[in-house]
Amino acid sequence: TPALYFSQTLINWYSRHKRALPWRETTDPYFIWLSEVILQQTRVAQGMPYYLKFTEAYPTVHDLAAAPQDEVLRLWQGLGYYSRARNMHHTAQLVVEKYGGNFPDKHEELLKLKGIGSYTAAAIASFAFKKQVAVLDGNVFRVLARVFGLTEDIAAPASRKVFQKLADELVPADAPDNFNQAIMEFGAIQCTPVMPDCLFCPLQQSCFAFNHGMVQELPVKSKA
Ligand code: ADE
Repeated sequence: TPALYFSQTLINWYSRHKRALPWRETTDPYFIWLSEVILQQTRVAQGMPYYLKFTEAYPTVHDLAAAPQDEVLRLWQGLGYYSRARNMHHTAQLVVEKYGGNFPDKHEELLKLKGIGSYTAAAIASFAFKKQVAVLDGNVFRVLARVFGLTEDIAAPASRKVFQKLADELVPADAPDNFNQAIMEFGAIQCTPVMPDCLFCPLQQSCFAFNHGMVQELPVKSKA
């Protein structure tokens, strides 16, 4: 099937091209959550030293919850968007108090936690708990728009449903974590916004945008 071909091609590409990143070597929801909060508005190269600092200073969610707020904010210095650090600290305390230190494993439960939006909830549910839920970030929007020829404006909130539905149909039950990492990594280093590497792309022949000369036109994103 097209869905199976797509997911297997991506996962195979990922096994050959993935960057070794410390949060990919763990299924601990606490480490995965930390990495995703740090990377929310931050590039991997900038976020890496903070991830290493935080996991060293606070090896468990209990350690983070018990830390003084000013110490957490001091460690966060240089990353910006300090509400991320305050929400993170608050959520650590809530996970300890309400869940005994165990992150919930359901997307809808995770969504209730401060600082966890749809993307981060899906990342934790799939990477830590192998739930069959698709992550949607800018990379995923771009890859899906190009390969499947989706012309909905990715800046319009209503388009989200279309992309989420397709993405959820593509996530394989036996490897949701690998698939989600793979599609994000593929968007980050192969199917890039500018000068994507179509010449060496394993999806070239089945890519709508490539076949219709629309790689530059997709995804559609209004400026507004
Ligand atoms: N940016 C946000 N989440 C990421 C992840 N899991 N791997 C690489 N880059 C990311």
